[in-house]
Amino acid sequence: MSIKDKVDLQNLPEHVAIIMDGNGRWAKGLGKLRIFGHQNGVSAVREAMEGAVELGIPYLTLYAFSSENWNRPKLEVLALMELLVSTLNKEIKTFQDNGIRLQTIGDIEKLPKNCQSKLAETIALTANNTACVLTLALSYSSQKEIVDATKRICQQVIDGKMSIDQIDEQVISNNLYTADMPNPDLLIRTSGEQRISNYLLWQIAYAELSFLSKMWPEFTREDLFECIYNYQQRERRFGKTSEQL
Ligand code: FPP
Repeated sequence: MSIKDKVDLQNLPEHVAIIMDGNGRWAKGLGKLRIFGHQNGVSAVREAMEGAVELGIPYLTLYAFSSENWNRPKLEVLALMELLVSTLNKEIKTFQDNGIRLQTIGDIEKLPKNCQSKLAETIALTANNTACVLTLALSYSSQKEIVDATKRICQQVIDGKMSIDQIDEQVISNNLYTADMPNPDLLIRTSGEQRISNYLLWQIAYAELSFLSKMWPEFTREDLFECIYNYQQRERRFGKTSEQL
């Protein structure tokens, strides 16, 4: 019995978020440049996308570039931006064949113009796809997202559209970049690191966490299936007792 057959299709996470970590270390282990790791990370991205569609997971969110990643060596940043454009060019067929709709979260206006236009083009081309929403977090910082939401809410109060008493968890959620998405049920991070790195901090309040020791370029759809199988063995109590569920 393969791991996929063990997955309960009636109890799938609606939203899986992934921190794709370990490209640099994987490449270094092979005596190659870091960009070689990023290039090989693309096939793992394809595995994750196709695996999600194979099971019927409606939302997949990938941490492709954090706000802090701008501080990496200039050449690496440039290479990552070029890789983004070439990947979108190459993977448009994967998106269309699998019914994947692309969207982004983050400060997209900070990306080079050619990245912005390729993203806009791919988002438009995939707009009618319905199997899975693929969200790329690019130039993304969760703390900045919360600051932006706070500013938007303050403005609504100043404009008299809302009173302070009306601000609750739902209002905050509605003003995040992810307003139109369910919160992640499962967060996966590769590379053995066990931290969140400024990713979807508000949204993962009740997510199950899965830390894998393998590096991102080694990630396959079977790893995704195994993470989901393990997730299904856990009891999500949302603060209640077992007996109350
Ligand atoms: C983290 O590994 C990975 C990134 C910062 C970039 C993620 C990019 C890809 C997976 C490839 C391209 C993807 C798209 C969507 C085009 P790291 O460099 O931090 O690895 P390290 O911790 O071993 O140094």
